[in-house]
Amino acid sequence: MARYQVGMTNEWAVGAMRKVRAGNEAVLVMRLADGWYGTATRCTHLMAPLDKGKLEGDELVCPLHRARFDVRTGEVRRWANWPRGLAQAINLLRREKKLRTYHVMVEGDAVVVEVDAAATGPA
Ligand code: FES
Repeated sequence: MARYQVGMTNEWAVGAMRKVRAGNEAVLVMRLADGWYGTATRCTHLMAPLDKGKLEGDELVCPLHRARFDVRTGEVRRWANWPRGLAQAINLLRREKKLRTYHVMVEGDAVVVEVDAAATGPA
């Protein structure tokens, strides 16, 4: 595992998210009331930029077809469903797939992301 300082805690309000770089990985870092979480920055449906989506409680909502992900686990809570006919057609080819997650921790005032050095693939 490699660890990267990606910012300071005062750069995120509770309920805020921000895309950062941790080594070669792009990570979406989110601060919830109960802690810090990190996920991939691209939706597993059709790669939309999740930093342009919404954080609603502990759910990350994709801006393109509204898939919803649990930010703690990356699990799909609701798959792409908008616009109705188009999303259903695309879903015949794009099955549910969870988001990659990252361990985010706070050390003093620093926000640190842990990245598996052997990991590959889009973040
Ligand atoms: S790209 Fe995210 S739901 Fe389609």
